[in-house]
Amino acid sequence: MSAKFRVEGLTKSYGSNVVVDHLDLEMEEGEFLVLLGPSGCGKTTTLRCLAGLETPESGVIDFKGRHVFDSGRRLNVPAHKRDVGMVFQSYALWPNMTVRKNIAYPLKVRKMREALAGGRVEEAAAMVHCEHLLDRYPSQLSGGQQQRIAVARGLVSRPDLVLFDEPLSNLDARLRDTVRTEIHRLHESLGFGAVFVTHDQSEAFALGDRLAIMRAGRMEQVDTPQRVYADPATDYVAEFIGMSNRLELHRGAEGWRTNAGVDIALERDLPDSDAVVARLWPDDLELYRDLASVPSGVVPLEAELLSSEFGGRTYDVTVAAGQEELRLRASSALHGSWLRGAEEGTKVVVGLRPETMKVYPLDAAAAGAEAVARPLVAAS
Ligand SMILES: Nc1ncnc2c1ncn2[C@@H]1O[C@H](COP(=O)(O)OP(=O)(O)OP(=O)(O)O)[C@@H](O)[C@H]1O
Ligand SMILES: [Mg+2]
Repeated sequence: MSAKFRVEGLTKSYGSNVVVDHLDLEMEEGEFLVLLGPSGCGKTTTLRCLAGLETPESGVIDFKGRHVFDSGRRLNVPAHKRDVGMVFQSYALWPNMTVRKNIAYPLKVRKMREALAGGRVEEAAAMVHCEHLLDRYPSQLSGGQQQRIAVARGLVSRPDLVLFDEPLSNLDARLRDTVRTEIHRLHESLGFGAVFVTHDQSEAFALGDRLAIMRAGRMEQVDTPQRVYADPATDYVAEFIGMSNRLELHRGAEGWRTNAGVDIALERDLPDSDAVVARLWPDDLELYRDLASVPSGVVPLEAELLSSEFGGRTYDVTVAAGQEELRLRASSALHGSWLRGAEEGTKVVVGLRPETMKVYPLDAAAAGAEAVARPLVAAS
């Protein structure tokens, strides 16, 4: 199947600052793509280029075989003719318009008179459970209601592609879950394609058919949540999706060694590098009270407790192992009784299973190399 939405070589600069840098992206019909990346990496700018709110310097944007932007042909279809809906973080409702007029706005600018007359506005309001709010003004709505109206406005014209720019980040945790579920459900029933920007990893894993991790105006990895989780392409991706434990390993006579002098046997030889960085999920590290408790096959790292926070079934524990700070989750049932009163500096042992490590070249990680480096050692 050919891609429905295709972006090729998209470049957008502000002055000398290249914000979107020869970006390529393909999406299938109805696909939900989640865009993740640190602040300033170009997420909003990319969405604005897709929507036609920014003019890129170069590249091609193709929606269903129709070019809406092509720098070579000086083609730039205006925003209201692109069949794209947008939902912003700030809601961006017009304060002087009622909810009804806010939702109707995309139909008006697209001159969709039949839809306007045919009850589409009411239908969109009902989709987000806000049909009773149509005659109010935005200032008379709660944050969650405003965001629902913004979602209704983004969907009302039944666009093929809906762009969501951190639509949930201004909502409190419980509302965020509710609206997130609603967006997910609407996507399932209406089948629009979506690009959804978020900073929240769990939101990204929950919503995305695929995740796109962006770095300095380019895509570092684009893949299913399951594959990104199981096999982050680079140290950057690993860090960004929450694989927060980082250990530097150096080649020694007997194999690989941590900065604290602990030897770790890696299944595979790593030919080109004398230094690598290993990444581990907090869930992949284990907590022990002393060396004697560590089972065979588990590498013990001696450490000192920095903090522990109760989180229900588990404690979030931070320790210092040599120069490295490690995070792990310890079972409340196993460790709650002593962790609750444990003082900072308490000696503990962190258990590491080498097969759960992802290993990347150290220099690429440190220098932010352009090339996408594949992991050198895969988990089992
Ligand atoms: N209108 C503008 N004029 C000049 N520079 C801009 C403009 N808009 C964005 N930038 C710059 O472009 C870069 C990318 O901005 P963008 O808003 O796309 O980032 P982002 O990934 O959405 O970040 P965040 O997660 O903080 O929203 C930033 O360095 C920003 O300062
Ligand atoms: Mg942004």
